[in-house]
Amino acid sequence: MIKVEHLSTSYSTIDGPVHVINDVDFEIFDNEIFGIAGESGCGKTTLLKALYDIVEFPLTVDSGKVILSGEKNGKAFSFETGQIRKTWWNNISYVPQAAQSVLNPIVPLQQQFLDSIPKEEKKRESKEQIIKRISTYLEELSLSPDLLKAYPFQLSGGMRQRVIIALATFMAPNVVLADEPTTALDVVVQRGILMMLMRLQKQLKNTMIIVSHDMGVHYQITDRMGIMYSGSMVELGRTEDIFENPIHPYTQMLVGALPRVGDKSQKKGIPGRPPALTNPPPGCRFAPRCPKATDQCRKEVPKFREVMPGHFAACHLLSREVVQNV
Ligand SMILES: Nc1ncnc2c1ncn2[C@@H]1O[C@H](COP(=O)(O)OP(=O)(O)OP(=O)(O)O)[C@@H](O)[C@H]1O
Ligand SMILES: [Mg+2]
Repeated sequence: MIKVEHLSTSYSTIDGPVHVINDVDFEIFDNEIFGIAGESGCGKTTLLKALYDIVEFPLTVDSGKVILSGEKNGKAFSFETGQIRKTWWNNISYVPQAAQSVLNPIVPLQQQFLDSIPKEEKKRESKEQIIKRISTYLEELSLSPDLLKAYPFQLSGGMRQRVIIALATFMAPNVVLADEPTTALDVVVQRGILMMLMRLQKQLKNTMIIVSHDMGVHYQITDRMGIMYSGSMVELGRTEDIFENPIHPYTQMLVGALPRVGDKSQKKGIPGRPPALTNPPPGCRFAPRCPKATDQCRKEVPKFREVMPGHFAACHLLSREVVQNV
């Protein structure tokens, strides 16, 4: 469905290029909720932008590409980096980070829904028919069709986020990208949004890609997930395996820092900070914070490889353990 092939991107800055996505290579399947996690600044939004093909100055793709393929209404499609935008809304849609600002506060929601529908689609139906369809869709999502008459500024943050998700899924796209869809919302509203995303995915049987720095969100709703660190993918696998059997020391620390029911021990954060992307360390970028780092880690970039079926990681320690076990 989505194939990311050895993708590298960078931002041009006055101090030279900042390499944010480094040789990222993985697949996202049909009919799954895929999560992308990692600390602030690790490149989650940049990766989503590359998936959605909003690659505009100062961001450039240096090498590799993204291929979006699948089938909709019995027709096969395939688009790659540079073409994906042709199929926005139809095969792929995007709920950006701080999505609240994507709605024009002074345009009624009905108009904003109509604007999101591709021209060819509008030719097939009358405006009244389309509005009827939008109203029915909102009702299916337990939202009132009266919302169509409202202006975004009249809605609460949680309601606005629901409307944005409705807008992004109305055309039943094969892939929906959502960047931090629950951040900045209170816990109860967050839960409602997560339930809505899960219900939609079951209904559409499509692919949802959820970016969140909150591991709890991934635990609750994703089927598989990838962990990013300093612009690279360091681990990827079934969510269950990531939580129960994390391989990369960074993932182990992320999972270890989570509170568990009944456990009263003081949780440790991850010591240190991620490296500046302008001047990353050679070798493994996690080495300066890794308690297990060796000389090799400080010199050589570890390869991202399949360690167990469907479970990938980039860590030198692992290869040594595997070698030792042989
Ligand atoms: N327009 C830009 N120009 C230069 N550098 C940028 C630009 N946008 C982002 N970056 C750099 O890219 C890195 C990754 O940013 P990105 O927004 O992808 O991170 P993120 O993981 O989504 O973070 P957050 O969790 O805070 O949303 C940042 O550390 C930042 O230094
Ligand atoms: Mg972000």
